[in-house]
Amino acid sequence: MEKSGFTCAILTVSDKGSRGERRDTSGPQLQSQLTEARFQVVATAVVPDQPELIRAAIARWVDEERIDLIITTGGTGVSPSDRTPEATRELLDLEIPGIGEAMRMASFAKTPNAVLSRGLAGIRKESLIINLPGSEKAARENLEVVLPALHHAVYKIKGGAKDCAAC
Ligand code: MTE
Repeated sequence: MEKSGFTCAILTVSDKGSRGERRDTSGPQLQSQLTEARFQVVATAVVPDQPELIRAAIARWVDEERIDLIITTGGTGVSPSDRTPEATRELLDLEIPGIGEAMRMASFAKTPNAVLSRGLAGIRKESLIINLPGSEKAARENLEVVLPALHHAVYKIKGGAKDCAAC
């Protein structure tokens, strides 16, 4: 299949996953959706719910590897260890509230528990970063909502000048 030229990395945030006590099925699920949507998945990793490790992985992928799209899965909820949005927010130059709003709105039609995801999205340098919830089902359903906007988002973040009406 033809590639878009945009690169992508997937970070699974899970204490159990990082200890090998739970198989990561969300990361591979997201990889298949993103590949199908013509993103090139160039990196994946699993880290525990520790803000400094979440930040280190995202910062490396953005600042050193200049990956266009960073997707995280897990740690967006209200459990004591869920701190992915806070770790992400510290790295952002700009937030894009509409991405989280759209995911929660569409997800709420499927489950009232959608309101418990605090996932956010935004821009660091020329990269788009998006938090998704952790279960395979929730990750898939949330990515489905915003995936159609992601090529245009990355194009614009990188300074693409084409008129939005033409896209
Ligand atoms: N969104 C969708 N579309 N489908 C789901 O099943 N699960 C919710 C929510 N968002 C869910 C969803 C649940 S149960 C939780 S606790 C939150 O996402 C946060 O998930 P996380 O802590 O794994 O990130």
